[in-house]
Amino acid sequence: MQINKKRIMSGMRPTGKLHIGHYMGVLKNWLAFQDEYESFFCVADWHALTTKYDQTEDLRQNITDVAMDWIASGINPEQSTIYVQSLIPETAELHLLLSMITPQNWVERDTTLKDMVKILRDKTIVQAENAKKIYLGKKELDKTEVINAIKNEQIKIDLITYGLLGYPVLQTADIIQFNASLVPVGKDQLAHLEISRDITRRFNHIYKTDFFIEPQPKLTETPLLKGIDGQKMGKSFNNDIKISDSEEETTKKIMRAITDRSRIKKTDPGHPQECEVVCPYYEIFADAETVKKQRYECENAIRGCADCKRELAEIMNNYFFNIRSKRKELESNHGYIKKIIETGSEKAREQVCITLKEVKKIMKMYN
Ligand code: TRP
Ligand code: SF4
Repeated sequence: MQINKKRIMSGMRPTGKLHIGHYMGVLKNWLAFQDEYESFFCVADWHALTTKYDQTEDLRQNITDVAMDWIASGINPEQSTIYVQSLIPETAELHLLLSMITPQNWVERDTTLKDMVKILRDKTIVQAENAKKIYLGKKELDKTEVINAIKNEQIKIDLITYGLLGYPVLQTADIIQFNASLVPVGKDQLAHLEISRDITRRFNHIYKTDFFIEPQPKLTETPLLKGIDGQKMGKSFNNDIKISDSEEETTKKIMRAITDRSRIKKTDPGHPQECEVVCPYYEIFADAETVKKQRYECENAIRGCADCKRELAEIMNNYFFNIRSKRKELESNHGYIKKIIETGSEKAREQVCITLKEVKKIMKMYN
């Protein structure tokens, strides 16, 4: 394959508007690499279906939202290729071929997949807890018993579909169809990527070729940004700040953030190292001098937590000001986003077709 520049490839599932954790943990690297590398960024709608196959009402809007968040954040569609996964059917064909050579226990060992299943199980438990009554056919069941049985895994719920099990294989197809050498992602993707490298190596070994490059992951300096409650940031945990949130929404959320729990009154000296959200956010978004002052004033009970958070909110609103203005502009220009997606998908598809043809030749398929 003729590759002039080295390539990067990455993707995100369209499950809603992106949060600042996506920005700091992943997008920042996409931005950093897009000049130097030929870049392919995938809105992974098939991957969204692996867990949300029954909730497709918002899928179209979510695809547009993700693309808008990317472009507002600085992904340059003139330079980088933005595409929608399902617009390239050849990826599914490559996925199928790769699935033939992937041992089942490789995917079963995928710890990220296990985490996804755990989240699904927790959601099912919440649903059961919120249900008024639980029936099996016409027979009403004891709710507590059912919930406990789900928790103890005595009741097996069908959370893992055939498609979900193939998650890392599909992701491998996404990456190696461009022969990308670098994959800028969040920490949670490392387990998938290890399988990608294994599959790549196995393909090369079985068919005695060096056609596929083993893709390496790339993390940012701030791979983990906590949610305002101190837990992992996530939409479903209701603790995230969106890239597209307004200044008012951002301020409101920051005011709700947890702080040093031992600090009750403003006259109590604070402990910045115990302040798990506000302090790290300062480190990330404020300049060194501001951080120094903020710590000093906290430790010496000069500033109260409310003032501290208000200042942080302002700093963050400044930080995201340009991105949010651009986002607003894009929202009123739907034709533009549609065009970007269509052009990008066509361009990406051309590359995938070239790869697939070569793969079939290597595998000595009928053609
Ligand atoms: N699994 C990734 C996520 O959950 C999305 C994704 C799909 C991806 N295909 C990819 C990431 C290829 C990197 C490379 O966000
Ligand atoms: Fe945290 Fe700021 Fe309060 Fe100190 S003053 S505990 S750093 S919020």
